[in-house]
Amino acid sequence: MVSFIPFVVSIFLMTFAHPSLSNTGCPKCGTMRVPYPLSTNENCGNPKYKLHCNTTTGLEFISAEQVYYTITSIDSKARRLVLRPPLIDQGTCQSSDLRVGGFRLEDDSPFNISSRNTVLLLNCSEKILLSPLDCSSSSICRRFEEKERVCAGLLCCSFLKDASMTNHRIRVRVEGCSAYTSLVNLTPGALIDSWKFGIELQWVQPS
Ligand SMILES: *[C@@H]1O[C@H](CO)[C@@H](O)[C@H](O)[C@H]1NC(C)=O
Ligand SMILES: *[C@@H]1O[C@H](CO)[C@@H](O)[C@H](O)[C@H]1NC(C)=O
Ligand SMILES: *[C@@H]1O[C@H](CO)[C@@H](O)[C@H](O)[C@H]1NC(C)=O
Repeated sequence: MVSFIPFVVSIFLMTFAHPSLSNTGCPKCGTMRVPYPLSTNENCGNPKYKLHCNTTTGLEFISAEQVYYTITSIDSKARRLVLRPPLIDQGTCQSSDLRVGGFRLEDDSPFNISSRNTVLLLNCSEKILLSPLDCSSSSICRRFEEKERVCAGLLCCSFLKDASMTNHRIRVRVEGCSAYTSLVNLTPGALIDSWKFGIELQWVQPS
């Protein structure tokens, strides 16, 4: 018995130690594959690419503010994943992550907000007009407002999250715009029913 325990321990170490050397993906989370380097626990993937697997609601991304966003799709070849935008609270035009200022990534995160996102800012104050956003009556956000009635008739603005802006944050605040959503890969003139709602992130390959 005395010699049996070290034997078991060494078998355990041979089986489970050095998982990071294997560059393997993590087990599926619900029905979703979790390709390398994405990581749902310390035994698989790369710890810098930490996600959360909630066994009932699915795979989730954790923002710098510790808000959990559901992941709706992953394209490991293109190194992209799409998050479901936060809900707009019933009865007010406020994003559910307004209290933490919206979506933010850590400065040293291997993820960034891709340049294929068109961000719609809703219920904006007049002050925001000073910045380079499309707040005109032809802005795409007006068409969203028609659908999301609670924000209708309020000032809104849209912009493409391209390389000229920070790719680590979508900011909302009470004195600016109190809600937002995002559309991935929007083509001009696309019908509202074909809009793909999501916040698309891209990741760098681990070195
Ligand atoms: C999964 O998500 C639900 C709904 O948000 C939450 O109530 C629950 O605590 C989560 N469970 C885990 C293990 O994170
Ligand atoms: C719009 O934002 C203002 C300022 O944050 C807030 O007082 C107001 O309730 C918001 N409107 C709606 C419909 O939520
Ligand atoms: C995000 O990161 C990728 C990979 O490093 C890079 O190619 C891309 O230009 C970045 N996107 C933005 C909007 O900065």
